[in-house]
Amino acid sequence: MNDIPARQNEHANLMQLRPMLTQDELLSEISRLRRERNAVILAHNYQRPEVQAIADYVGDSLGLSRQAARTDADVIVFAGVHFMAETAAILNPEKTVLLPDLRAGCSLADTLTAQDVRDWKARHPDGLVVVYVNTTADVKAEADYCVTSGNAVQIVQSLPQGVPVLFAPDRFLAAHVERQTGRTLDIWQGACHVHEAILPAHVDAARALHPDAELLIHPECGCSSHVLQEFPDLRLHSTESMVTHARESSAASFVVVTELGMVTRLERDVPGKTFVPVNRTACCEYMKMITLENVYESLRDLSGRVTVPHDTALRALLPIERMLAIG
Ligand code: 13P
Ligand code: SF4
Repeated sequence: MNDIPARQNEHANLMQLRPMLTQDELLSEISRLRRERNAVILAHNYQRPEVQAIADYVGDSLGLSRQAARTDADVIVFAGVHFMAETAAILNPEKTVLLPDLRAGCSLADTLTAQDVRDWKARHPDGLVVVYVNTTADVKAEADYCVTSGNAVQIVQSLPQGVPVLFAPDRFLAAHVERQTGRTLDIWQGACHVHEAILPAHVDAARALHPDAELLIHPECGCSSHVLQEFPDLRLHSTESMVTHARESSAASFVVVTELGMVTRLERDVPGKTFVPVNRTACCEYMKMITLENVYESLRDLSGRVTVPHDTALRALLPIERMLAIG
């Protein structure tokens, strides 16, 4: 039986009961609830502009984990994706960690399971496992070290020589770490669908249009090895390092080779310079699932709670603490 009209009626009734708030009302409700609940809003650099604008802190995965580790708020609203909220929950087992839309996942984190890591360890009993922060809590619990794009090179450099190292799950970041450290890694062949789809042709086209612009490239990008063939000294940047570099550089314009939301953060924090996205379709639909509406609802109802089982959290804490200690 077709029950669409019935559902439409139900929806219309709900809308009558709960009228939509205007943008101004949403903003003032978010401020009120944030105060009442002693909540902090942490937003990743890829978030929508209006979500970045209400955040207490906007940054990269490393900066967000550091903020989560040091906050004295009772509630952490994570405007980001699931693995980030899990990391915050591991660091703050006594706090309420909320992800306003629990469907906000990560295609890269989805490429690797805890069993995959256990299988590798069974084949390499003396090996070390280094995982990117873009992994589930179950995977982190199997790892020796966790890294972000901001400190992956330093952490791999600090490892003892002569032991096999699994670097997972991003193969492009792994290739960058191999180039920088000169160390051969066992590389998990995962990738982020957004960064993998940024092709050398997109970078070449943007450079042709903006010949004076400097390139800001994230190491998760599939195009990075092509660009490095032409510019071997080019530095790749975590999203936060893009901000620092753009501030310090003498260049006036930049082609931003990562997810589109990064342009918002750069324009806000580095005024007077021009930032051109490499490709307007480089957009992470998971990051964009967080909206003002669901931040408000999450604060209002304490919905979207993210928790990690105690024994998993305990085992995942050590690699996360190692990540926070370096870089
Ligand atoms: P960073 O912000 O840590 O550079 O990572 C980018 C990313 O893809 C997060 O999902
Ligand atoms: Fe995951 Fe890629 Fe989205 Fe980052 S941009 S959250 S790596 S899917």
